[in-house]
Amino acid sequence: MVELGVNIDHIATVREARKTNEPEPVWAAALAELGGADGITVHLREDRRHIQTRDVEILRKTVTAKLNLEMACNPEVLEIACRVRPEQATLVPERREELTTEGGLDILSQKTRVHDTMKALQDAGIGVSLFLAPDLAQIEMAKELGAQAVEIHTGHYANTVGTAREHELEIITVAAAKIRELGMKLHAGHGLTYHNVLPICRLPDMQELNIGHSIISRALMVGMTTAVREMKELINQ
Ligand code: PXP
Repeated sequence: MVELGVNIDHIATVREARKTNEPEPVWAAALAELGGADGITVHLREDRRHIQTRDVEILRKTVTAKLNLEMACNPEVLEIACRVRPEQATLVPERREELTTEGGLDILSQKTRVHDTMKALQDAGIGVSLFLAPDLAQIEMAKELGAQAVEIHTGHYANTVGTAREHELEIITVAAAKIRELGMKLHAGHGLTYHNVLPICRLPDMQELNIGHSIISRALMVGMTTAVREMKELINQ
């Protein structure tokens, strides 16, 4: 079974548009779980543009599925992660001017920083996943650093069509095989929708997909529980 992590950042995006107290991400997480989510994913960004520290703290108490905290290698966020202790932390790159996470984390150029962040998380009992481009050198370094999982960045795949998309899928297929061969768990995410998810979830040994924008967009129309149930049925059909 492919596990579905529902990223609820954009519930908080709507709340922060008015700096008010609705919609409540904690409610959205509960409804996502009712729809069959295997995990709830939130990104605590340095600039706090959507998810706030209090959201992570309350979600830790209320989420019964796996809580996956996306975070940069940032000391302040690391301290929160080690205190709150999600089941999993996914290390991602972060730039304040970006609209969303634009690329994979470059762990070759910041080996020590990533190593130290991973060690603190793992010492606190938190499993670490690294969000990487489908690049074999990056994946080999993830193994060397002791990552439990690699989440392949599917953004380029999602943003292309036709032969360009097929080419991206080939690159992802090779990367996925390397992740398996090295004994790490295979995750994927970014830009996945009801229309493009099937080839990704059919990769052998795919364990976890993290999907946000598409599910939240559909939830606005059909409700959170239905939107999650539809995606869950699609990836395990
Ligand atoms: N996985 C990671 C590591 C991400 O940073 C994001 C975006 O926050 C997602 C998955 C979800 O991407 P999307 O919102 O495009 O589904």
